[in-house]
Amino acid sequence: MGRLVIVSNRVSVPKKGAQAGGLAVALKESLERHGGLWFGWSGEVAEDRVPPPKSMTQRGITYVTTDLTRQDYEEFYNGFSNSTLWPLFHFRLGLLEVSRKSYEGYLRVNAAFAAALAPMLRPDDVVWVHDYHLIPLGDELRRLGVTNRMGFFLHTPFPVPELLVALPGHRRLVRAMCAYDLVGFQTRDDVRAFLGYVAGEISGDVGENGHFSAFGRYAKTEAYPIGIDTNAFAELAEVQADAPETQQLIDSLQGRQLILGVERLDYSKGLPHRFDAIECLLECHPEFSRAFEFMQIAAPSREDVARYRALKRQLESAAGRINGRFAEFDWQPVRYINKGYDRASLAGFYRAASVGLVTPLRDGMNLVAKEYVAAQQADNPGVLVLSRFAGSARELTSALIVNPFDVNEVADALAKALTMPRGERVERWRAMMKVIEANTVETWRDAFLSDLTEGMSSEFEDEIHADEEGVGLEAPSLPLAPVAQPPGLLR
Ligand code: UDP
Ligand code: G6P
Repeated sequence: MGRLVIVSNRVSVPKKGAQAGGLAVALKESLERHGGLWFGWSGEVAEDRVPPPKSMTQRGITYVTTDLTRQDYEEFYNGFSNSTLWPLFHFRLGLLEVSRKSYEGYLRVNAAFAAALAPMLRPDDVVWVHDYHLIPLGDELRRLGVTNRMGFFLHTPFPVPELLVALPGHRRLVRAMCAYDLVGFQTRDDVRAFLGYVAGEISGDVGENGHFSAFGRYAKTEAYPIGIDTNAFAELAEVQADAPETQQLIDSLQGRQLILGVERLDYSKGLPHRFDAIECLLECHPEFSRAFEFMQIAAPSREDVARYRALKRQLESAAGRINGRFAEFDWQPVRYINKGYDRASLAGFYRAASVGLVTPLRDGMNLVAKEYVAAQQADNPGVLVLSRFAGSARELTSALIVNPFDVNEVADALAKALTMPRGERVERWRAMMKVIEANTVETWRDAFLSDLTEGMSSEFEDEIHADEEGVGLEAPSLPLAPVAQPPGLLR
């Protein structure tokens, strides 16, 4: 394999003293191994003209980032990415905002990213594009004549066809996905939804093992559930168990059990329902009054999008309501924290928590659930209460799985978690730990890259170019990438 080129909207540029997240670590390791390039948004908005991309090289990895104009930030980032695709991909049609201007901004930024990236690519580079912001990027690169092996991984869920067709331009979006050689999703449900669209909406051919053809191209799709760096996170939590911050948290609980929620302040995470479940727990199980505290860390996110600001107000009011109703002079049930913490602090907090409460209404994977499990003490672990609508629920089947819309069910699960005997806690935790030790962020990365680069050799490519003559599908409007026609396509 040649160089690895990662493209994502957020780029994890190394900063002095900053701790890289699991994804960044995994990708960096691979970039270092193969030599590589990481390209994306700088996180900056240029008020006047966008300066040329900034570049820095560290340990064999070149980071190239570009600013967005104010208009791009509004239309591409706040607009189409986070007010159209994000709600749609999280099954929230009621929150879907449709605007032609933001769609044009989305396509414009993708075209601009492709134009900036294309001259940097070498013939044997392998390109890996991440997430919903950059779906059309591969198609734009193909238009510029890039024939490199290209893969795409969607970190969010993929909506079922019945929802996807609500998006004006859905056909173009899926057509753009077909420009990649490999399209990766978090779960088999997402793969099924994508192939359901391919077969049902655009009369594509769906073959065996995720191979499909549509718009004159052959490609493959597969589920690659993302993991965490489990052992490193477990070690971090062990170290953090004795950190002053963790000890301060434990002291402040005065022997009460901690129920912990950690997320970006995002409507996909089901926070209002979760607050209702806490209220329901206090109402239906008054014996738990004073026995626990619920701490919700809600890191500010996408604050220039009105929906996110509205959610913040809603949660402030819910926290005030519950505390006003149930608090005593020396105890209050809810600690609502509207700020983010670094991974080390979180590792200690997870370990101190008797219950990890992870109840998104829809989530691609949810890494917090895996981090909570990794952070536990083997002989006295906490209990994970997990939404069935998180991708991680497919793997962490020994959690207490709940329907987050059913606040009574969540309250009952919390009551069960708070009183679960140690033996059962250990048994459930061991089963989950086994899963996340077997499927880490490294195995995720290696599985994706191995499928993406499968059969990559010049002989193989010659063979494929010979095959292209006889493809016989709808006239390809995109250059065919070097992927073999899989056997067994259903016609
Ligand atoms: N996170 C963090 N600080 C915070 C809140 C979250 O570092 O204050 C991290 C968390 O540890 C996890 C990631 O952000 O690694 C969230 O990933 P997840 O898949 O749970 O949700 P996403 O934010 O990607 O929707
Ligand atoms: C989710 C998305 C990522 C995104 C992250 C933070 O994990 O899948 O692509 O980077 O949220 O959101 P932000 O808008 O701050 O990049």
